[in-house]
Amino acid sequence: MKNIDSYTHLRGESLFVDDLMTRQDTLYGLCYDSPKAHGKISRIDYSKAEAIDGVVKIFTYKDILGENQIGGILPDEPLWAEDEVHFWGQPIAFIVATSESIAKKARTLIEIKIEELPVITTAKEAKDKGSFINAPRSFSLGNSSEAFNTCDYVFEGETFSNGQEHLYLETQGCYVEPKENGTIKITSSTQGPTQVQKTAAKVLGIPMHKIEVDVIRLGGGFGGKEDQATPWAVMAAVAVQHLNKPVKYILNRHDDLRMTGKRHPYNSFFKIGLTKDLKIKAFEVEFLQNSGAAADLSPAIAERTLFHATNSYYIPNVQTTVYSCKTNLPPNTAFRGFGGPQGMFVIESAIADAADKLGIDKCQIQEANLLKENDEFSYGQIVTEVQAIKAWNTAKNTFNLSDLQKEVDQYNTNNSHTKKGISLMPIAFGISFTNTPMNHARALIHIYQDGSVGVSTGAVEMGQSVNTKMLQVAQEIFGISPHKVKLESTNTTRVANTSPSAASATADLNGKAVEKACNNLINRLQKVAANILSTNANSIGFDNDCILVNGEKSTLTWEALIAQAMLERVALTENAHYATPVIHFDKSKEKGHPFAYHVYGTAITTVTVDCIRGTYEIDAVNIVHDFGKSMNIGIDIGQVEGALAQGIGWMTLEEISYNTQGKLLSNTLSTYKVPDVFSAAKNVNILPLETEGNPLAIKKSKAVGEPPLMYGIGAYFAIQYAVKAFNKNYQLKFDAPFTPEKVLMSLYEK
Ligand code: MTE
Ligand code: HPA
Ligand code: MOS
Repeated sequence: MKNIDSYTHLRGESLFVDDLMTRQDTLYGLCYDSPKAHGKISRIDYSKAEAIDGVVKIFTYKDILGENQIGGILPDEPLWAEDEVHFWGQPIAFIVATSESIAKKARTLIEIKIEELPVITTAKEAKDKGSFINAPRSFSLGNSSEAFNTCDYVFEGETFSNGQEHLYLETQGCYVEPKENGTIKITSSTQGPTQVQKTAAKVLGIPMHKIEVDVIRLGGGFGGKEDQATPWAVMAAVAVQHLNKPVKYILNRHDDLRMTGKRHPYNSFFKIGLTKDLKIKAFEVEFLQNSGAAADLSPAIAERTLFHATNSYYIPNVQTTVYSCKTNLPPNTAFRGFGGPQGMFVIESAIADAADKLGIDKCQIQEANLLKENDEFSYGQIVTEVQAIKAWNTAKNTFNLSDLQKEVDQYNTNNSHTKKGISLMPIAFGISFTNTPMNHARALIHIYQDGSVGVSTGAVEMGQSVNTKMLQVAQEIFGISPHKVKLESTNTTRVANTSPSAASATADLNGKAVEKACNNLINRLQKVAANILSTNANSIGFDNDCILVNGEKSTLTWEALIAQAMLERVALTENAHYATPVIHFDKSKEKGHPFAYHVYGTAITTVTVDCIRGTYEIDAVNIVHDFGKSMNIGIDIGQVEGALAQGIGWMTLEEISYNTQGKLLSNTLSTYKVPDVFSAAKNVNILPLETEGNPLAIKKSKAVGEPPLMYGIGAYFAIQYAVKAFNKNYQLKFDAPFTPEKVLMSLYEK
């Protein structure tokens, strides 16, 4: 089944916030943000801006009737700065005018004087100065310090992985309207409608029931709208509360790039110990996460880094610690993988370093340590139904690894100015919000009296096609054609108290709720049908828009059944709640069973490096991926392709750059290189691994949104292989992204 949005997407007819019909009296908002990264505001003068014709009002923290606080995990972030600023781009005020261009003009006339304070931009500097968001976290298994004494080889090293801009096609934005009696309707491009509702209620000082949040769909979120869609909606809501007129605010690309946080850069320090047979016996890491100026989701992201610090390997002695370092950058935030990719890059670097120093192939160490049934992660979860070795071997065999390897080495013998490289990248990614209480969802199903169906859930459609999957669940249970089911917008008045659409868990959580609601309706309808057909309820089935008796088609149609149920006053609406069973985690011990299941896979990446220019091409990425029993292979393959492109971009091209004063330099698409058709892998093969799936996955179809991003890490090591083939003096460095600039330097390193 095709993505249900594909027809309107292709025709440009799909609606986003900016496409909404606006009321005639709509006003336009624009945020005024800090032109310095750290300092005390000694003077700020709005008078010239306010004097412009068409400027209605400029809002500051003084206009807030509730709390000036938007922190989701920790209360450390004001909506608008009061007397200090902590990052370049921090919101200070909100201009509301009769048009966007007037607001823009007014913004240039605001005068500010800031007494500058020292600026910290790197995690290392923050750690040295003791600048942290919260206390560090540590996971441990076995006894690593003792285990190192019994290792045959011990290696230590350092890694850096840079941030990443989300670059959702649709920038942040909202449309906020006043309704009667002080109630407010917010249409937002957010992954977390409840987060927007809750924060708006807090800042406005009104109860949550006075705020309705509606989400049509997102032109991409990638984690960047999990928490960071909230401030813009809340700013506009404050204005609406005062002005009683609708306010629209769509960020332009430059403002969005400057004011929003990104993937967290990490500096990490590892120590890895191996025995002669290449078993990794001990592993220690200290992760320094560059959190930015406020917590945002950093503590949760730091936690997931620890969960994925050993990737797809079993290591009996592990000690990992993460520091969330407070710097003067925009608060960094969720980005596909949520700290997992940063953790995995470090273990892969440690293995590469060990292999290089031992003069062997990286994949020998990888293969010797893959997870097996009943192995234990450092956080106490015992893994079952492990697919790590099966995925690895299937990739090796299906894509003829030994031939590929030979081709690469032969090519390198025969060519002096271009070199090829190859790498393997296994993944194991845990599915569930790491914060157990967030793993729940609800669905509200209406069967209308003509037999058509409306489905509301807490799931936000952001391009991942979750609405199509929800439709499939309902349509298959009811046995009706897809066009009879409509997915409604995500709205807090229909489905309340939702977790954000994130953690790749949206389809599992909301799909299970849809499943439950539909099955409850089916139970009621079976009784009605049994009565009509003079049989017992257990013999009734549903397929092809008809009612079945013992599997045989009857004369009763779906429409006729619904009409009769209506006459009999049977409830045709159902609401269901689902909470993931089994999972738990004890933070005081840092042990538990946080994940419903893991997703596995292996990618083989081959590249060609131009050793004159330092440029490279990704020749092929051959992937074996564990989809479980995919409920929509087209959609799922699309997720793998997209995530892979994003992962390769993070590892190779995308280079976020701030100057020492905390100003974003990579603030346009000419200074920040995103993957395009020319940099895409020339060849991508995705082979679904035949697995049983998992009963906690929706229809045994495993979560797919984030895990494949980490296949992109393979590109880094494939390029490194080619560099080393050209320059034997090159000392391995783990400094991502491996941009052409860095490749060139490495090729000619003495
Ligand atoms: N795919 C598209 N097209 N657009 C997106 O914004 N977000 C990713 C992933 N795939 C995203 C996407 C992220 S970060 C997550 S967590 C999941 O989708 C969220 O949706 P899911 O839980 O339904 O997989
Ligand atoms: N993953 C993604 N988003 C989240 C999580 C998580 O584990 N926890 C809170 N938000
Ligand atoms: Mo995804 S980073 O969990 O929104």
